[in-house]
Amino acid sequence: MDSIIINGGRTLSGEVTVSGSKNSALPIMAATLLSSGVNRIYGMPDLSDINTMKRLIEHLGAECSVSDGLVINTENIRCCEAPYELVKTMRASFLLLGPLVARFGRARVSLPGGCAIGLRPVDIHIKAMESMGVEFNIDHGYVNASCSRLKGAHILFDLPTVGGTENVMIAACLAKGITTIENAAREPEIVDLAFALKKMGAGIKGEGTDTVIVEGVKELKPLTFTVMPDRIEAGTLMVAGGIAGGEICIKNCPVHCMGSTIEKLRETGLEIEVEEDNVLIKRKGRLKSVEITTNPYPGFPTDMQAQIMALLTLAEGVSIIRETIFENRFIHVAELDRMGAKIKVERDSAVVVGVNQLKGASVMATDLRASASLILAGLAANGKTKVSRVYHLDRGYDSLEKKLQSLGADVCRKRN
Ligand code: EPZ
Repeated sequence: MDSIIINGGRTLSGEVTVSGSKNSALPIMAATLLSSGVNRIYGMPDLSDINTMKRLIEHLGAECSVSDGLVINTENIRCCEAPYELVKTMRASFLLLGPLVARFGRARVSLPGGCAIGLRPVDIHIKAMESMGVEFNIDHGYVNASCSRLKGAHILFDLPTVGGTENVMIAACLAKGITTIENAAREPEIVDLAFALKKMGAGIKGEGTDTVIVEGVKELKPLTFTVMPDRIEAGTLMVAGGIAGGEICIKNCPVHCMGSTIEKLRETGLEIEVEEDNVLIKRKGRLKSVEITTNPYPGFPTDMQAQIMALLTLAEGVSIIRETIFENRFIHVAELDRMGAKIKVERDSAVVVGVNQLKGASVMATDLRASASLILAGLAANGKTKVSRVYHLDRGYDSLEKKLQSLGADVCRKRN
């Protein structure tokens, strides 16, 4: 298992470009199963989660190749089963349920199970698709779904689930009649998915609002599309500029959907200038403590919580971070405390007392965003930090250590 080694204390300078969005690319790859033909997707990030999704759709019979963009040929889908061995490594595999049932009338998908940050049930996905006529039975950890033809339904989500909105929106594209999703998630990646589906010929309205309306069509055509940039990688790079100090320019930022992240970082005292899709980050002097509550979009993203916590360990005063989306997303706290941070978890909130200095240490990544948080802390820490189990990092960041190196950080990957 690889480790990332950081010798902290260097300020950053120069410019870096944001890669494509993991959380947009994954549902779009699943959506290509709705049609038969050759799809071409540009702007794909090089991530292990993307490779897992490629293996999954190849298991179903699709052919994937990387030439000019990611080419996915869905003409010979011959299986509708997503096996546990692959699904257990990536929860987003459950997004195959919608397109498989919509196009083939059946699917056998392993239940994703929980992960480090929470139980992450899929009950809302299943309840919604039952209302569209899908019959489910669950045996041996698999969801078996069947339906002769999906029918449109009026669906009200108990909570604005991102994956649930994506699964149902994808399935509804080929359903008979109109599907309305109330209390839909509004994340930018859902808007990107809707754009892709509309390019395939889908009839979708209201994406990005809490009510999405889909008028089913008989057939869709293959997709040619460019995924949006990754707003969480962009936010992570902004925190890198803030925690290390100096001045950096982050290019290809989806600024239009980063309002809550940028505003909160400005509140810490970071100087942030926006010029089209380029963001200039400058840190002068000590940062200020803030209060944050994670919320569904357009609120502060839960996927930025671990990263901004690393920044706030060095802010003057006491910061409070309340995590409202996942029940166990403070695993990085213990590792940050081992680097000299002063953080206490009280139920759904972390109390971060700012310290003057972090100290390098050997720490262990436990999930995707926690691994980024520890690397960010290492940039500012005094001495050497070794972050192990960075396979977590590689799931969702495209060569983060190379991007930080290009900004002047003393960081490298050690292949064990
Ligand atoms: C997506 O996960 C993202 N993953 C997550 O990013 C992100 O943290 C999350 O949305 C919230 O923004 C991808 O897009 C691949 P949810 P998802 O369904 O769809 C509960 C990252 O770091 N819930 O919106 O699984 C659930 O337990 C990852 O890139 C139910 O109770 O998130 C959670 O508490 C981590 N029943 C909350 O809703 C359901 O049927 C939000 O989950 C579905 C969800």
